[in-house]
Amino acid sequence: MNNRNEKKGDILIVDDIPENLQLLFTMLTKQGYEVRRVLSGKQALNVVKVEPPDLILLDIRMPELDGYEVCQRLKADETTQNIPVIFLSALNETFDKVTAFQVGGVDYISKPFQLQEVIIRVENQLNLLEMQRKLEEKNKELELVNKELEAFGYRVSHDLRNHLNVINSIIYLLSKKHGEKLDNVGLKNLKILEDESERMAEIIEDLWRLSESKSNYLDISLESFDLSGVVRKIVDRLKIKMKEKEKIVIIESDVYATGDEGLIKIAVENLLDNANKFTNKTEQPRIEFGQLQQQDQTVYFVKDNGVGFDTKKGNNLFTPFQRLHQEQEFPGTGIGLATVKRIIELHGGEIWYDAKVNQGTTFYFTFGE
Ligand SMILES: Nc1ncnc2c1ncn2[C@@H]1O[C@H](COP(=O)(O)OP(=O)(O)OP(=O)(O)O)[C@@H](O)[C@H]1O
Ligand SMILES: [Mg+2]
Repeated sequence: MNNRNEKKGDILIVDDIPENLQLLFTMLTKQGYEVRRVLSGKQALNVVKVEPPDLILLDIRMPELDGYEVCQRLKADETTQNIPVIFLSALNETFDKVTAFQVGGVDYISKPFQLQEVIIRVENQLNLLEMQRKLEEKNKELELVNKELEAFGYRVSHDLRNHLNVINSIIYLLSKKHGEKLDNVGLKNLKILEDESERMAEIIEDLWRLSESKSNYLDISLESFDLSGVVRKIVDRLKIKMKEKEKIVIIESDVYATGDEGLIKIAVENLLDNANKFTNKTEQPRIEFGQLQQQDQTVYFVKDNGVGFDTKKGNNLFTPFQRLHQEQEFPGTGIGLATVKRIIELHGGEIWYDAKVNQGTTFYFTFGE
């Protein structure tokens, strides 16, 4: 690939009429382009294979291989298919524009050539090419960042697991060896510590699995389980946090889901955690979990009547660290929904929402087939 910072672009002109070649060659070299010339389609295909140019100006009417044929062959070959081709045609020739585009041409220039027109059309294509290359570079960078993030998640969950093991052993020792010295409140608190650290171990375990690359992550289990039961347990845990206000929580019974129970638990827990957090300043807070039937598909939902948000601003909610509320008002890091989305997508499902400022939010989700 050429370095376009050093030269403006490497152009190959293909035409069986030497005068045309000369004319275009002079025009374009004067503009600072590097220009190569060949007199037949066959030569063009050879030259392109050895050193691909940035752009090809290709005559249509040529003996043996005509321009359409050459273009078709270039587009059929993986190594040359991305080189833009501008067709050259004489005005008195019957020139089929549709075929020109169908075989993969990106533009055409009619003879007799007009300096300004040639330059503008060539510039357009080279600019597009440059943008495409930049996009490809950005994509590669993003892929790398993604991989790094995954490795980071893997590392963090691994380290957390080690620390949690230490905490767990100490809790165990405390309860076994010093349990009798504690009163009822102390024992109750120790039990909460035990349950919380157990849940943390589960979360870390699942995050650790989630941090493996998607392609490695094909072993999610697909079992049917009682999602209502899972929600009930999460809500019981959340109730410890729901201290100040009596919240109405409605959980539809006998809602089943098929998927990886551990991962789905994390997803639903995040949604319920949000529902709880964003109803903390609401007068008569209410949270609801249930399912709907939509065109033969089960759609689950977590609904609240909390602060809601302006859906016009919610474009990136599923991107890590995107938040619509102030940290002082509603604490959080903005990782929750990104994790939820990832889990749902791993199951082949979808997630979307409906929200209104000060009237509440509903998240809907599916788990695919
Ligand atoms: N039920 C909800 N009601 C109102 N806003 C919500 C609700 N759920 C999510 N949001 C908005 O989406 C943002 C992103 O949610 P997400 O769960 O990813 O992050 P968080 O809850 O702020 O932090 P974290 O989950 O990492 O602790 C929230 O900060 C909030 O602005
Ligand atoms: Mg959250």
